Amino acid sequence: MISMDLTGKVAMVTGAGGGIGSALSLDLAGLGADMVLTCQSSRKKCEELAKQIEAMGRKVCVVQGDISHPEDCARMVEEGTAYHGKPIQILVNNAGFFYDVVPLIEMSDAQVSKTIDINLKGTMYMSREVCRRIVDAGLPGRVVNISSGAGHSGRVNFSNYCASKAGVLGLTRAMALELAPKHINVNSVSVGYVEVGRWEGDEGKDAVRANIIPRILLRRPGEPRDISRMVCFLVSECGDWITGSDFKIDGGESCGRVPFQD
Ligand SMILES: NC(=O)c1ccc[n+]([C@@H]2O[C@H](COP(=O)([O-])OP(=O)(O)OC[C@H]3O[C@@H](n4cnc5c(N)ncnc54)[C@H](OP(=O)(O)O)[C@@H]3O)[C@@H](O)[C@H]2O)c1
Repeated sequence: MISMDLTGKVAMVTGAGGGIGSALSLDLAGLGADMVLTCQSSRKKCEELAKQIEAMGRKVCVVQGDISHPEDCARMVEEGTAYHGKPIQILVNNAGFFYDVVPLIEMSDAQVSKTIDINLKGTMYMSREVCRRIVDAGLPGRVVNISSGAGHSGRVNFSNYCASKAGVLGLTRAMALELAPKHINVNSVSVGYVEVGRWEGDEGKDAVRANIIPRILLRRPGEPRDISRMVCFLVSECGDWITGSDFKIDGGESCGRVPFQD
């Protein structure tokens, strides 16, 4: 019988207060994992999420920091490990930043750095801290890095974001090679267009929808749980023989041109 039970494991989700991060946190807890939720500015939202997770009978703590700062990453992982009294064995590097939308030739140094520092370097820092402790404890582990369709193909005015998410794909492969002998499986999920809270009230949302949805074979935007279900699969025993792979969860958007009209 297939089991996706995570009872007894501690899972950390970065950016747990965000749209996809909230779904990831609830679904991993729903499979039995005790949780470490990381936030930067959404502490209140994470604390509300933690209450829901506690009501499921799980242990959960909220840790706060900026993943682009290595010392914050070390502290957050230490706090989560100390709270649970055992290593974090499942890490989902979900936190991401994509707001500096500007042509490369107009991009400031800060706009180049910020996106790379959060999306790529932050993923490296968190992975380093969590995997070090898993290896020291001699336990198996799982890491899922959240990338994007923008890591596979270009997007106008998103060169910083595209580069950061392509970097996450390369990082995933290198981590998989280094960590397989230590029994840590590392994969990435490349996310398509998923509507999350930050779109609410956004006047651009209708234009984005009109542009993107015709390209999605399954003809709807993604929901956060479309992503979390794939991550749950990978970190459960279903993912025992999967490492170094990337999974595009995008309703079929990346598979080719759509020749038909509704
Ligand atoms: N939604 C989509 O269509 C889509 C498409 C492709 C890829 N993705 C990827 O999916 C992931 C989740 O995105 P989302 O759509 O759920 O976005 P979201 O709702 O904006 O969530 C992003 C999260 O990242 C956290 N974060 C940002 N900068 C941080 C920093 N410096 N340190 C710590 N945490 C930081 C935020 O934390 P606080 O709120 O606590 O500040 C926030 O919770 C991202 O990696 C994104 O690139 C999303």
